[in-house]
Amino acid sequence: AAQMQHINAQLEKLGITDVPSLENVQLFPTVNPIDVYRAQIIKKVQEITGAEPKVIDNAVQWTQDLKHGDLCLPVAALRFKGKKPDELAAEIAEKFESPLVQKPTADKGFVRFFFEPTALAQLTGPTILKQKDQYGFNSSLGHTDPSDPNSPQKLVIVEYSSPNIAKEFHTGHLRSTIIGGFLVKLYERAGWKTLSMNYLGDWGKQYGVLSQGFDKYGNEDALKEDAVKHLNEVYVKINQDNYVEQKPANELKAKIDDLKKQKVPPKPKKPAKGEKPQPVPEHKWTDEQEAELEETIKKLQAVLKELEEKPSIDEKARRFFKRMVDGEPEAIANWQRFRDYSIEKYKDMYARLNIYFDDYSGESTVLEEDMERAAKVMDERGLTELSEGAVLVDFGKHGKPKLGKTLVKKRDGTSLYLTRDIAANSERHDKYHFDKMIYVIASQQDTHVAQFFEILRLMGSPYSDIVGKCENLSFGMVKDPKGQTMSTRKGTVISLADSLDDVHNFMHDVMKKNEDKYKQVEDPEGTADILGISSIMVQDFSGKMANGYNFDMERMTSFEGDTGPYLQYAHARLCSMKRKSELSDSDLANADFSLITAKEGIDLVRTLAQWPDVFNNTLKTQEPVTVLTYLFKMSKALSSCYDAKDTSNKNAKTMSVVYAESPEKKVALMGLYESARQVLANGMKLLGLTPVERM
Ligand code: ARG
Repeated sequence: AAQMQHINAQLEKLGITDVPSLENVQLFPTVNPIDVYRAQIIKKVQEITGAEPKVIDNAVQWTQDLKHGDLCLPVAALRFKGKKPDELAAEIAEKFESPLVQKPTADKGFVRFFFEPTALAQLTGPTILKQKDQYGFNSSLGHTDPSDPNSPQKLVIVEYSSPNIAKEFHTGHLRSTIIGGFLVKLYERAGWKTLSMNYLGDWGKQYGVLSQGFDKYGNEDALKEDAVKHLNEVYVKINQDNYVEQKPANELKAKIDDLKKQKVPPKPKKPAKGEKPQPVPEHKWTDEQEAELEETIKKLQAVLKELEEKPSIDEKARRFFKRMVDGEPEAIANWQRFRDYSIEKYKDMYARLNIYFDDYSGESTVLEEDMERAAKVMDERGLTELSEGAVLVDFGKHGKPKLGKTLVKKRDGTSLYLTRDIAANSERHDKYHFDKMIYVIASQQDTHVAQFFEILRLMGSPYSDIVGKCENLSFGMVKDPKGQTMSTRKGTVISLADSLDDVHNFMHDVMKKNEDKYKQVEDPEGTADILGISSIMVQDFSGKMANGYNFDMERMTSFEGDTGPYLQYAHARLCSMKRKSELSDSDLANADFSLITAKEGIDLVRTLAQWPDVFNNTLKTQEPVTVLTYLFKMSKALSSCYDAKDTSNKNAKTMSVVYAESPEKKVALMGLYESARQVLANGMKLLGLTPVERM
């Protein structure tokens, strides 16, 4: 209500008494200045054409480039039969009149609306300075009834990051982490309740392997110091042992197969068309020779059996894991410590990224009884079939041949990754009753997700209803700077801690080059960390999430181009300008934005007015690049202001706070720059970046 009063007061000054309310159109003029204009445009166009407000609202678009207007209306979208779009556009442009909007232009089938710049500046500037870190966000949207702030808030669960204990936390996990973090902020800013869930890879035979590894190579101190790193080292070592141990048996198996092949006479090749059949090669062996071969094979098989009977690491791991599944305290004890210490370490890393999880679930937390229950439903629905003791789903039999076949239970009765995902889905719903759940998972697992979603759909209610509330947000692969796949085997995987440290050091070196500035930075180490992380995040967010990208330290840390350091620099520069102006927020609250007259300034205002629309659009796209593209566009409009020249005086900068021609103009300009800083900060924070004040 207070916001509405403020907007109305602003409008009254402009001679407008109120924002019309329109049937079936939900506008938010208190949080979005552009909606004041939308309301005007919809109302007038309705008067002129008789079209329904909702249809007009859906038709009105924003433009890519301000030279095409602040808003535009492709009249074909009004779906008027009989009237030619050009003619209708001309008619609307001709009849349209509003104190807020200039005379529109008709451009073929489009009506282009340009807002009255002074009024726009007077409406937008004070709105931003008043709403501050709320500007652009709309917390009504997350309510079941957006027009009623007392209606219940909806809950979204975002499952992201989800690393595997003892395995590398690689750039794929990092990508999931920062995308998930962004989604949580996005929904929060739209008024949803959010829950950050980390679904750890913490279950399976590999923990049997790890336990043996720890007995052999583990070190308590190293575990406490950095569990993530230490367990990974242990895991790599024990897997090497496993490989070496199995080598003789594997070689022997290959040898036996080879000998068996010799026993069978080679089959004659099928003649190609028009070719004569080849004579069958004679099988020259004598009976004695054959008997001898038979004997050798038998001997080798006996040796192999001996080798295989000796319990291997693998076999021991299987048995150990079985004991874990059965909940034997001794078997569980080590695993629990590994998990707890790993989470502690993950938390440190997440804190550097400004990310906090509400729920550390994991594959281990999925209950056996829930998997049993799901298995029963699958069986009753005729989804599953037995195959050599294992249970599988053949999607071809259920109209989805592209999804192939997949196991849901192993021969030894233990569950699989897929089975756990199936059961976890409804467990989470029972626990939290979410309205929406988003899985942020790498595109390599698209088939896995499609399979478990489809199984849940086929299982029917309630499973199918719950999965109906779920989304898979799939993202592309991160490759090395040359575009090669990174792999643990090739040793090219960049671990999270290492990459954070690398960018940190890089940015710290850059900062140290400017000694004077460096001395004024309160916490240079912390600032270097923030700048480094900004570099990574902006690079990650620079394209659509479905696309992969190359992890290029050189490029992402550059101050030129569309990078993290560029945005941070733009923000720090605005902060420094404000410090130097010695104007306070209450001085700026009185800024007279009608004094902003230079084209560059007006264009900046127009761009700042778009931010709430950009936020709304981001909710639709769920793409961080939507925000990022806008922030770079806005930064460019901003730097045009820095360069704006006064045509009457070659040396004067028309938009310089320092050289402003009057105290009022100085306040107005600083008010504009402060508005730009606020929007930049709001956008950066939405992405998960921490804007710095000095660097
Ligand atoms: N732990 C898995 C991995 O690192 C990712 C888990 C994704 N989430 C899920 N519900 N399956 O590959």
